[in-house]
Amino acid sequence: MHQVWDLVTGGSTFRGQAGGSLWLPPRASEVAGQVDWLFYFILIVSLVFFVLIVVLMTLFVIRYHRPRGAEGTEGVEHNTALEITWSVVPLILVAAMFYLGFRTFMKIAVAPAGSYEILVNAQKWKWLFTYPNGYVSDELHVPLDEPVELMMFSQDVIHSFYVPAFRIKRDVVPGRYNKVWFRATQKGRFTIFCAEYCGTGHSDMTSSVVVHSRQEFAKWLEEASAALAKKPPAEAGADLYRTRGCASCHTTDGRPGIGPTFKGLFGSSQPLSDGTTVVADENYIRESIMDPQAKIVAGYQPVMPTFKGRLKDVEITDIIEFLKTLED
Ligand code: CUA
Repeated sequence: MHQVWDLVTGGSTFRGQAGGSLWLPPRASEVAGQVDWLFYFILIVSLVFFVLIVVLMTLFVIRYHRPRGAEGTEGVEHNTALEITWSVVPLILVAAMFYLGFRTFMKIAVAPAGSYEILVNAQKWKWLFTYPNGYVSDELHVPLDEPVELMMFSQDVIHSFYVPAFRIKRDVVPGRYNKVWFRATQKGRFTIFCAEYCGTGHSDMTSSVVVHSRQEFAKWLEEASAALAKKPPAEAGADLYRTRGCASCHTTDGRPGIGPTFKGLFGSSQPLSDGTTVVADENYIRESIMDPQAKIVAGYQPVMPTFKGRLKDVEITDIIEFLKTLED
């Protein structure tokens, strides 16, 4: 019995290091145990009452059904003790659910003072993470056992930041900051999902959160920033292509994606949706990054978000240099 319980719940302690269970991912954050405890509490209470009510209903139907031709029941009075019991017991249970749920909700909602702050930029269909030193990555890297607060904003529509292993999920609504925090309790790599339907690429809007020890995290951030700073433009452009969201819509192998492929794009003639043609030179590419709706290539939808304010001039130049390496 104990093994079955452990298999279903991932360990009965609901603390830290538990691995995944039959139906839930590992508990890799501080609040995960509390969230699971609440989940099982509500599940078990619901199951007990479901079975109790269905069994009683069935028994009563069999025991008290009216035989053909018999008189109807008369003179059934109310029973005060019974009615108080079936009102007060559920009241206590739902009040306990509210109290425990609200306590855990407040814990998840309010970050401890001095949390490590990371900016999260959600856009169709990519997560970008900006660290205090300005470095941007497309995977979230965080230190172990330290409170991390995410300041999240959306460039376009509503997305939702969801890490099942941390048991946290928060909508990212355009026009305001949405915050969520966590303290990772396990090293490793966990999946990030977008949990709000946001268009064509919604199901591809996944990433990972990588939990390092404190020292490893500091080392990772320093090395990643230093490596990017001293790369030649075309290589920096290739990094930006991967990490800033271009790759979700533009391939480099000739296959059409949500947008035109980048293979052989630079210097080629592109037929536009208004019947004219444009040569894909530096100015056209810069315009397409800053004002994507200005010229739409024939056969594609005007869905690309603007990168104005999100890419520096030098980064646009890096991307153009990268595109030049993809000529046929
Ligand atoms: Cu972003 Cu779904």
